[in-house]
Amino acid sequence: MRDQAEKLRVLARTLKHQVECEIKGTQKKTRIIAVTSGKGGVGKTNFTINFALALTSFGQRVIILDADLGLANIDVILGINPTYNLYHVLKGEKNIQDIIITGPQGLQIIAGGSGIQEMANLRRWQVEQFISKLEGLEGMADILIIDTAAGLSRNVMSFVLAADEVIVITTPEPTAITDAYGLVKAMTSKKKHGVVHLVVNRVEDAEEADLTASKLSIVAEKFLKLNIGHLGFILDDPAVSKSVKSQEPFLLKFPKSPATECIQRLAAQLMEQGYNSEPSGVKAFFGKIAKLFG
Ligand SMILES: Nc1ncnc2c1ncn2[C@@H]1O[C@H](COP(=O)(O)OP(=O)(O)OP(=O)(O)O)[C@@H](O)[C@H]1O
Ligand SMILES: [Mg+2]
Repeated sequence: MRDQAEKLRVLARTLKHQVECEIKGTQKKTRIIAVTSGKGGVGKTNFTINFALALTSFGQRVIILDADLGLANIDVILGINPTYNLYHVLKGEKNIQDIIITGPQGLQIIAGGSGIQEMANLRRWQVEQFISKLEGLEGMADILIIDTAAGLSRNVMSFVLAADEVIVITTPEPTAITDAYGLVKAMTSKKKHGVVHLVVNRVEDAEEADLTASKLSIVAEKFLKLNIGHLGFILDDPAVSKSVKSQEPFLLKFPKSPATECIQRLAAQLMEQGYNSEPSGVKAFFGKIAKLFG
């Protein structure tokens, strides 16, 4: 009951914000969120898909950009098979609209392929042409969520540095916490602003999540002068692995599972926090990416 009331409250506020934008005649810019982690295998891809689905139930138009070049990603977990990716857009073979796949609940997915990495090999005018094609996304999505690889590679760091907001995923394991700290440290050495949210995955209970979050936020505050916001946690739940095996998101396959409840709470939390600042939008985002790769 409490969750239902909370959801209605967030929905009402989101709607109000949309109406205000329409009255002012301003096009709302896309909120860009990169999902990342220090250590691999902590649950980024599962989080991204189910979180994106949960956000659609707040009336948000959400696009996932699969930016991980590795294996077992968005397409595998959703059981889809994208034929084209951003590389085809970059090569001028496809338009952005041609490569978008529509998933459950109107969720849209873009496979990055090697499109982003190849920007490094383009001439300036070609980069500009590519970005102007990507600009079409602005009117199509309220939120763009990027599933990145783990670690400190240039690829990952570029997404993290260019996004308005970053969600760092960790588990309570000391190795995952240490790597998450390493990532946050590398991030702040290059960028002072931007919002960093923490999600603690695979916890036994809320207490374990709080303990993990405070370990990280205390050192980040002390040594990096960085405030990490604890967005929330996801319980360790066998429904996650079961849903991966059946290639169906747990939010849809197991709507009453503990993991689903946690994800819904996280989505409400993100909506509640709203925009801490006006999002910079798709054009600015890819412009920054191009600079970081160039
Ligand atoms: N909340 C959870 N409860 C139980 N198991 C989980 C949970 N979250 C993730 N897992 C397990 O961890 C596995 C890895 O998850 P996922 O592929 O989302 O991680 P990742 O961080 O994207 O990995 P990579 O770094 O390789 O991209 C899942 O297949 C699932 O078995
Ligand atoms: Mg992944």
